[in-house]
Amino acid sequence: MENLFVFDHPLIQHKISLMRDKHTSTKEFRELASETSMLMAYEVTRDLPVEEVEIETPIAIAKTKVLSGKKLAIVPILRAGLGMVDGMLSLIPMAKVGHIGLYRDPETLEAIEYYCKLPEDIADRDVIVLDPMLATGGSAIAAVSFLKDKGITNIRYMCLIAAPEGVNALHDSHPDVPIFCAALDEKLNENAYIIPGLGDAGDRLFGTK
Ligand code: PRP
Ligand code: URA
Repeated sequence: MENLFVFDHPLIQHKISLMRDKHTSTKEFRELASETSMLMAYEVTRDLPVEEVEIETPIAIAKTKVLSGKKLAIVPILRAGLGMVDGMLSLIPMAKVGHIGLYRDPETLEAIEYYCKLPEDIADRDVIVLDPMLATGGSAIAAVSFLKDKGITNIRYMCLIAAPEGVNALHDSHPDVPIFCAALDEKLNENAYIIPGLGDAGDRLFGTK
């Protein structure tokens, strides 16, 4: 599928398997979410533009490369997206962080916004949206639409586990937004949970159930 990137790195696959295990503790789950996000950050940022600069080493002048182009912002979707922030920031510490609060109405499955705080200069940044689970795609579509309304033109979406239904829905609504995930699962169940998935990501991260 175009614009969908499933990371098959062994470390990523191993950590996702541990996260799926219902016996994994909240503490371990949180650590694994952070570590997996850090490994994914490496791949998600693979095509960032660089420019050549000259740097004086103790030996000679080196013609070498540094990041160029727009600055980055990461935007976790509350609450479960928070579990991916530390891992991302450990690789891209200069990124600013915005927050969008959305929850799925359990009856309608519609994404309801309850919080939003973005960096003032967000329109001048490239944005990576973070959320562990892409299920129906309702939350992702709402978050991306919201960011586009703020004038952001370059948006990437990064999740841990995606369902085909969510991938298709996000692609249909926002075909320009690449989707990066660690696993593409089978389908959704009747409550719109991902099968086999890992359960409720927010509850597992924060120990609320
Ligand atoms: C979960 C998850 C996504 C959303 C995915 O959040 O973190 O945001 O569901 O589902 P969708 O693709 O069908 O929209 P939830 O609504 O459970 O809120 P929480 O993060 O506060 O637990
Ligand atoms: N949200 C979750 O946390 N898990 C799912 O499987 C689907 C939506």
